[in-house]
Amino acid sequence: MKDVQRVAIVDPSDATREPLRNLLLGVETVWLEAECSRYEFFIDVARQSNPDLVVVSLDSDHAKALQLISHLVGEFPGMPILAVSARGDGQSILQALRAGAKEFLTQPVVLEELLIALQRLAQGRIASDGTSTSNGISKVESLVVAVIGSRGGVGCTSLAVNVGCNLAQDPRHNVALVDLDLALGDADVALDLIPDYTLADVALNIDRLDMTFLRRSLCKHDTGLSLLPHPMQLEDIGLIHEDHLQRVINLLRASYTHLVLDLSKRFTPTDFTAMRLADVILLIAHLELTSLRNVVRILHTLQTEDGMADKVRVVINRVGSEDGEISLPKAEETIGQPVYWQIPNDYKAMVGSRNAGVPLLKHSPRSKAHLSLVGLANDLCGKEQETKKERRSFFSFR
Ligand SMILES: Nc1ncnc2c1ncn2[C@@H]1O[C@H](COP(=O)(O)OP(=O)(O)OP(=O)(O)O)[C@@H](O)[C@H]1O
Ligand SMILES: [Mg+2]
Repeated sequence: MKDVQRVAIVDPSDATREPLRNLLLGVETVWLEAECSRYEFFIDVARQSNPDLVVVSLDSDHAKALQLISHLVGEFPGMPILAVSARGDGQSILQALRAGAKEFLTQPVVLEELLIALQRLAQGRIASDGTSTSNGISKVESLVVAVIGSRGGVGCTSLAVNVGCNLAQDPRHNVALVDLDLALGDADVALDLIPDYTLADVALNIDRLDMTFLRRSLCKHDTGLSLLPHPMQLEDIGLIHEDHLQRVINLLRASYTHLVLDLSKRFTPTDFTAMRLADVILLIAHLELTSLRNVVRILHTLQTEDGMADKVRVVINRVGSEDGEISLPKAEETIGQPVYWQIPNDYKAMVGSRNAGVPLLKHSPRSKAHLSLVGLANDLCGKEQETKKERRSFFSFR
């Protein structure tokens, strides 16, 4: 789970305090420690509640609110302050920042902007506490991994589901898998989950989406992985637009440490949106000609968009499945970049696990496919030591 931020708010106006409070209550990482309707009393409230950050609404009385911010900074120098006002002009922002606020949001506050501000404030606090992680990645940052295939049936869903479950084994992680193979996705089948809600419900409610609704739309597997499934009815695919997906991914990023996106093989606008928002794109291939030729074509297309091709890591699945398969050096020469990861062919474990609807970590925890996918999950989140061991153990299978 992510670190919780204990928040105190001060806003004399019920009309703006209520919606702000409701927005904050929907954010999983927020614990609303105190609420105050008088600027004069808030210093005492802060002393008693000792929050991680405070939200000061300026509009009831700008002068008093700015004075309060200055007092808070004087008494609690390390405590970040978020100022909120309907007056989003440069002068108002400058006054709030000069008084000591670290962030400024315009009323009515939009959830995405609130989440970004909260993340920035938490990161600032972590940095000033000196408690950021050793690889420099802040505790509240999330990693988005898109999985695409170089042809059908190449192993995307198997990889997405199992890497997702493996990532979820770390108690510090909160992992979600989004099935973006909107027409024919089967991540729910691979996990044997019967969802109550799907991406279609999220899209239908996109304008009044809050974190509580969004989190309710995901169903949780007993490995700890949460799934946001593709729409059940084919006719609902059209409900999901690129901007919906952008909103959903940005909101999920704020609640989950890792997002795995299982894309379709049709390179639709939603697939491209997902790839744009991803930090890493795993491009899955086999050591055969059609698949490798498609890798070259896909890389070529992605190179036309700034920064996109740089995020791609080629993963070869089912290594060792055929006698006449193309060699790894030849494959790397063909695609013009090193292969990032190899997953051995492991028919018994993989097909058995898929047919049972049970991920490898429960179905075949000692299989070579599982060990390779554990290594991949570790490598994605920067666990170098374990990864080196996994890499070696996998190469020994070849
Ligand atoms: N490493 C492997 N060894 C053996 N079989 C595998 C391996 N990886 C995947 N498979 C099998 O290949 C089949 C296709 O895998 P999967 O459904 O994950 O591919 P996909 O790319 O998601 O397919 P689709 O194009 O239908 O979305 C499944 O039966 C799966 O069990
Ligand atoms: Mg699939």
